[in-house]
Amino acid sequence: MSARAVVLVALVACRSSAHTEPEPWSDAWLAREAEAYLGSVGSRRASLEASLVNHGNIYSKQRLASYGKGTSGWDALPEWNPRSRPLDRAALAALAAKQWPELPQARLWDGVRPTDRAGWVALGKRVFFEYPLRAEVGVEHALAPWITNPGVQAAPAGGEGQGVERTREGAAPGLVAFADVDGAKRIGITCAVCHTAVRDGAIVAGAARTHFDLGALRLAYYRDTGAPVDPELAQRMVTWGPGRADVTEDDDEDPVQIPDLWNLRDETHLTQAGTIKHVGPAALALRQETQLLHANALRVRPPRELAWALAMYLYSLEPPPARAVADRGALARGAALFEEHCRSCHTRPDGGGAPVPVGRVGTDPALANGKARGTGMYRVANLVRVAEAAPYLHNGSVPSLEALLSTERLAEGYTGGVRGPGPVRGHAFGTALPAPDRAALITYLASL
Ligand code: HEC
Ligand code: HEC
Repeated sequence: MSARAVVLVALVACRSSAHTEPEPWSDAWLAREAEAYLGSVGSRRASLEASLVNHGNIYSKQRLASYGKGTSGWDALPEWNPRSRPLDRAALAALAAKQWPELPQARLWDGVRPTDRAGWVALGKRVFFEYPLRAEVGVEHALAPWITNPGVQAAPAGGEGQGVERTREGAAPGLVAFADVDGAKRIGITCAVCHTAVRDGAIVAGAARTHFDLGALRLAYYRDTGAPVDPELAQRMVTWGPGRADVTEDDDEDPVQIPDLWNLRDETHLTQAGTIKHVGPAALALRQETQLLHANALRVRPPRELAWALAMYLYSLEPPPARAVADRGALARGAALFEEHCRSCHTRPDGGGAPVPVGRVGTDPALANGKARGTGMYRVANLVRVAEAAPYLHNGSVPSLEALLSTERLAEGYTGGVRGPGPVRGHAFGTALPAPDRAALITYLASL
């Protein structure tokens, strides 16, 4: 570039930055958003109010009552920067030998605020894998029954049948040994226990852990130790099944499938009932901040830098490569059918779209209309790597894309549902198409 051109470019850049906002998602824009979230209680409160879709549900009410109040509410909780150690092979071996693995002296975060995006992402990755949501007795019991049931000589069950997965190197991603808020050593779960999968021995961060069965792990603990459990809660844990958790805070029976975390940046709404309007990165950061302080029983809150870092890491997650589709004819036909029958809702290039009223999609309305997080809507799922995302729909009730596009699943005698026999109603789009068309649609979906 000539010297003159450089001057011109500089002038243009200068002029545009003086008169326009920084480009959304640019480094400058993110830096400005970070400053507002970290530095201004008024800005956090405004993001909260703008991001809650239905101020009348329990999720919103709790946050409106306690978040972003300045000196009271959750702002008054002490910050907790834990000492935590991921369960790698050595730590798991120590636990099996009835010893506590050594914990690091240093706290998770060194207290230095990152200065660029890569720094935030790297810190967020550590939070995702290492910041304990809480101690989890079900996992403690599976890995170290000497903690939960002293005196009984039980061998550790390991939890692998319940989705406590191991990598090729023998680590159990998503699990940590840590010093709890009260100083006691515990085994805890982190984001990664639900939001990573282990495929061919390697971690796929962001993929749903569809085999993780928290209900079964907890029930084994209650069964083996005789610890008291509310029978109704125990019954609900049985029905969660693998890959789902009832993350809501009411008594409704509305467990939700763990979603893949691909392309969050482009989602207009977060969570499957669209409970949170994604007004900007602060909406995701404060979702994570409030999730962590809730999971820790409102005793402490995470340093806000860690919630921001977590959001930056979530935005950085990349799906594994899409499968190559050999049948170009079917692919083209499927793409055309998708435009005709599906694009009206699945509007974005990644297949996602704004929430639609639950009556229009017709799936199980319990979550959408629930007191806990309900909005009356379901979000139109994005379809990134949808071929690997079974089971389908918000409650994980449909086993395959073939089943989703079949009329059999809608009928009385259907026995193929993931959550037990009986019809799986709703989202009947495409089910009436001739078989070759449905196959072409599936070919197209597999390319996304
Ligand atoms: C016990 C399993 C579990 C753990 C642990 C967990 N999640 Fe989730 N996560 C879920 C489920 C289930 C949903 C679906 C909630 C819904 O749609 O209502 C979800 C939804 C989400 C979403 C919304 C995704 C979307 O598409 O809108 C994000 C973001 C997320 N989790 C991030 C995290 C982070 C970060 C952590 C750690 C602080 C975490 N989760 C811990 C199970 C879990
Ligand atoms: C009226 C709007 C609408 C139309 C039309 C529509 N969808 Fe959907 N789709 C949704 C909504 C909403 C969901 C989430 C529903 C739920 O979870 O209960 C969804 C979910 C899905 C899922 C499940 C994704 C997952 O990860 O669980 C697939 C696959 C899908 N749609 C494909 C299609 C195809 C293929 C067509 C066209 C034949 C289509 N959709 C037409 C609104 C629509």
